[in-house]
Order: sequence, then C-alpha cells, then structure tokens
Amino acid sequence: MILYDFIFLMNLCGLISVSGLFGVETHGVKTVSVMEGDSVTLNTDITVQTEDQILWTFGSVQIAEIIKKEQLNFVFVLNDGIFKEKLHMDNNTGSLTIGNIGSEHSGLYQLQISSSKVLMKRFTVTLYAPLPIPEVIRDYSHCSTSSPGCSSVRKCLLLCSVVNVRNVTLSWYKGNRLLSSVNVSEPSIRLSLPLEITCLDDSYSCVVAYSFTNRTKHPRVTELCLTCLEHLRQALVILAITSAFLMLAFIVVIALMVCRRLKCNQGKEKAQTEEKMENADIHFSKQGAQDMMCVSVPTKE
Ligand SMILES: *[C@@H]1O[C@H](CO)[C@@H](O)[C@H](O)[C@H]1NC(C)=O
Repeated sequence: MILYDFIFLMNLCGLISVSGLFGVETHGVKTVSVMEGDSVTLNTDITVQTEDQILWTFGSVQIAEIIKKEQLNFVFVLNDGIFKEKLHMDNNTGSLTIGNIGSEHSGLYQLQISSSKVLMKRFTVTLYAPLPIPEVIRDYSHCSTSSPGCSSVRKCLLLCSVVNVRNVTLSWYKGNRLLSSVNVSEPSIRLSLPLEITCLDDSYSCVVAYSFTNRTKHPRVTELCLTCLEHLRQALVILAITSAFLMLAFIVVIALMVCRRLKCNQGKEKAQTEEKMENADIHFSKQGAQDMMCVSVPTKE
C-alpha cells in the first residue's frame, strides 16, 4: 500500500512538473496473467483522436508511441532487443499486443494517454508456465477375478493427471457439469484426480486450468472402460492368440526336423539303391550290347 502510494505520488509529481496539469487520472495497476508462449493484449479502452498522444513504456524504455495531430500521424513501435518482432500496436485504439511472450516480457507496462488531460494506466504482466494437456488412464488396479461384482457392474475407474504444475485446478466435468476438482498452489510433480464412472459415454472431460486459461482432455471413455470381464477376456484372447502362434511355430519346427531326418534316411537309402542299380545296369547293358550286336550285324549289310 505504501509502495503504491509512493508510486502514485512520484507519478503525480512527475506529471505535474511536465504538463502542469491537475487533470491526471491514475487507475490502479491491472494485473494481466498470461501463459508463456501465448500473446497478450493490453487495452487502452479508447479510440485515438486528433491531438492525442499515446505512449507505452516498459520499465524505463519507450516501446510504442502514437502522436496524432492535424498534419501528423506518427507511429512508433519498438522492434529491437527482447521485443523484436513481438510488439504490435493497433493504430486506432493504441492497444498493445505482445506476441509469443517469454519471462523477459513480464513486468510493469505503463500507458500514458495525453489529450486534453493526461490519463495513466498500468499493467503488470505476470507470466505462467505452459499448461500440459492432462493425461487420462484407466486404473485397473481394482480389477481382478476375485473382486466381487467386477464382471457384472459396469464400473470404471479413471485417473486424470498432470505433471510439473503449480497454481492450477484439475477438474472432471461431464458436459458442463463439474464433478470434482482439486487445486494446488505449490509446485507439484504430479497432480492426480480419480473418477469412478458407471455410465459409459464420451461426454467426460478432464480440465487443467489457471484462472485465465485451461487445457482439456476428452478421454474416449467407451474405449477405455471395457468392463473388468472384458478386460480379462481381452487379456485371455491375447494370451490364446500368442500361445496359438507359439504352438504353430513349435509344430513347424518339429515338422521341419522330422522332415529333415526322413530326407536324410531316404537319401541314404536312395544312395544304396542307386549303387545297386548301377551294378545291375552294368550287367544289363553288357547283356544288352551283346544282344544289340547280335541283332544289328545283319541289318547293317
Ligand atoms: C476453458 O477456457 C475456455 C476459453 O479459453 C472457456 O470458454 C472454458 O469455459 C474454460 N473451461 C473451463 C472448464 O474452465
């Protein structure tokens, strides 16, 4: 309070010495919260008229200015240093937009509107860490064959969580209706909020929110929330398929081994019979040759 009065006095004195006017309106400091990487607009709430002067300062640096006179329409926007390609001023209203905001842009912004009187406005831009999108998982920990009623009741336990947050509220909604919420102001490694549902539809959402912005996750409840029995059945099906494949692979390997062995034996037998046959052939061909000779001799002459 003392600090505020001090600033107020300083400002008043400064302005009086400069303009020599008493018509100074000083409004309280407006706090503007913004998430890192977002853009923020500081509104003048006026339309710039002829003979007006708009001056924006950040700390002690003049960052934007409009001077509008009969013959003159002067516009200046700083495009340097930490504000390079980040500042935009609306020429009609003098409202200032800071894009892709980072921690270096947080602090006190002062607006001085000089017309017939001088109006001062102050904005404290406060930066918040980017919000992660919440993660929703199905909690199967209560799901076992022994849990009573598990197979008959369509109950589903969901767990929504976010990591590395502070000053947030984590909530479950069904449509627009708030079901439950939890908030933290201290930095939190992981913030979780469970939800047990019996009605399976996709209108649930988990929202992590700062006071000024939020991130929402719409879980696919109907996909996530198979009943426990279905879950077990699914597991069984996967198990069955896997074992069937293993069995098949086993059979193929055995079959290949048996085949190879048979082939090997067959090969031996074949070799043996071929040997025998070769011997027989020799006898046969000798005989055949003789026969041929016997027959062929008379036909040649
Ligand atoms: C989330 O933010 C949007 C605007 O960005 C707002 O319309 C909505 O109501 C907010 N939702 C919650 C749950 O705060």
